[in-house]
Amino acid sequence: MRYNAHKGAEWLPGNHGGLTVKKILFAASEGVPFIKTGGLADVVGSLPKCIDKQYFDVRVIIPKYACMKQEMKDKMQYVNHFYMDFNWKRVYVGILEAEVDGVHYYFIDNEYYFCGSKVYSDSPIWEIERYAYFSKAVLSALPVIGFQPDVIHCHDWQTGLIPVYMKERFREGEFFRRMKSVITIHNLKFQGKWDTKTVRNITGLPEYYFTPDKLEAYKDANLLKGGIVYADAVTTVSNTYAEEIKTPFYGEGLDGLLRARSGDLRGIVNGIDYNEFNPETDKYIVKNYDAVNFRKEKVKNKRALQQELGLRQDDKKMMIGLVSRLTDQKGLDLIAYVMDELCQDDIQFVVLGTGEERYENMFRHFDWKYGDKVSANIYYSDALSHKIYASCDAFLMPSLFEPCGLSQLMALRYGTIPIVRETGGLKDTVQAYNEYESTGTGFSFKNYNAHEMLNTVRYAERIYYDRKREWNKLIDRAMASDFSWEVSAKKYQEMYDWLIG
Ligand code: GLC
Repeated sequence: MRYNAHKGAEWLPGNHGGLTVKKILFAASEGVPFIKTGGLADVVGSLPKCIDKQYFDVRVIIPKYACMKQEMKDKMQYVNHFYMDFNWKRVYVGILEAEVDGVHYYFIDNEYYFCGSKVYSDSPIWEIERYAYFSKAVLSALPVIGFQPDVIHCHDWQTGLIPVYMKERFREGEFFRRMKSVITIHNLKFQGKWDTKTVRNITGLPEYYFTPDKLEAYKDANLLKGGIVYADAVTTVSNTYAEEIKTPFYGEGLDGLLRARSGDLRGIVNGIDYNEFNPETDKYIVKNYDAVNFRKEKVKNKRALQQELGLRQDDKKMMIGLVSRLTDQKGLDLIAYVMDELCQDDIQFVVLGTGEERYENMFRHFDWKYGDKVSANIYYSDALSHKIYASCDAFLMPSLFEPCGLSQLMALRYGTIPIVRETGGLKDTVQAYNEYESTGTGFSFKNYNAHEMLNTVRYAERIYYDRKREWNKLIDRAMASDFSWEVSAKKYQEMYDWLIG
């Protein structure tokens, strides 16, 4: 309880049953259910729901994109607007808000910066300008909306300037003085870099910031580096990735910095929304099932999907799924290399996703070549993704690197056995099958080698076809594993508590 000089003792806003509610603001470039291109949006959309409301008031701020669905825009309400000095101009900053599933969202509105039919453009410097604008606008908007977070939780390079601006121009006023920041690295590959002079011009930051101990890396300005240097804590989305990024192979040029900041760097593994991904209640799938009746019921989904996608209808056929952004990160060149060999086997292969043209065309090609075995669906659909998680027997994820990976968690939840490369979050969340001890929840291989992957898939095929009881026990264990947010949300809470002191 705090004391108010005018009114005497009372419960003030921010007080809850005698406890001070700590205020956290998530700042990110995307978030479910408003806009999604990848796993970042899933995390930003699902984690706030799982942070204990008794102790924390977590809100989210993202840009308002022209390409958001109209029904999502319809949920937003105008809050306020103002003009901000940015890139030598006075630019408009609109603020909107919405509440979905108990989470309070804010949106930064500027049609010049967030127009277009896609979330991200192909021009690195334009991306830097847009998200530098966003980062400054987030801080400028806070006093206007009257939300004073104790911690701003930034996600990925797009918000890397927030910790920098916070320590720079926004430090002066009382409002920002005690505010803390944390940055979570969802993918170190993307850093937001461009030549120093241009970035200095756009951001308006003094020259002093552009040295190798601050924003500069290898002669360029680097926004993610700025975030890592200036944030009060740094996290990434699995323990193994937290270790890997301190090495040159995974460090993307920032391994030295990450080693230097290793005392403030933690890995907290992602969870998934167990209500949204639930085979017992999933509205997208033709037959719901659970850990008890999957032996009889799960296959009905396979049957329906084979029919929907024009694959040969055969309950017994081993169906392997892949739902992914089609980028280098995901190990698709390994698949390209051995796909002809794999397609000699008695399997079906279902792909869903979009991305780099060469991978899109690669899967289209194999779909054409092996019509009744391979189904390439080069678009994105929530409905089809859920059907794939529910229908397939195995799920392939041979990533080159994988900060956490969410698809393997979804696959486990649906009793679809992951086949993964042992890297990052894949290593931390999929336990390799051990046929002697009858343990494990999936299959894994170590080296980035196409035949090592193929051999692992073939090992899985042998268990699936020849040792069905063992396969079903794998499913039992997969479905019993728990990657809901509960445990990880507590770790974030501990970190917020520690930061706020
Ligand atoms: C990025 C990473 C992925 C991670 C996701 C959410 O998309 O590539 O591994 O699961 O962010 O943190």
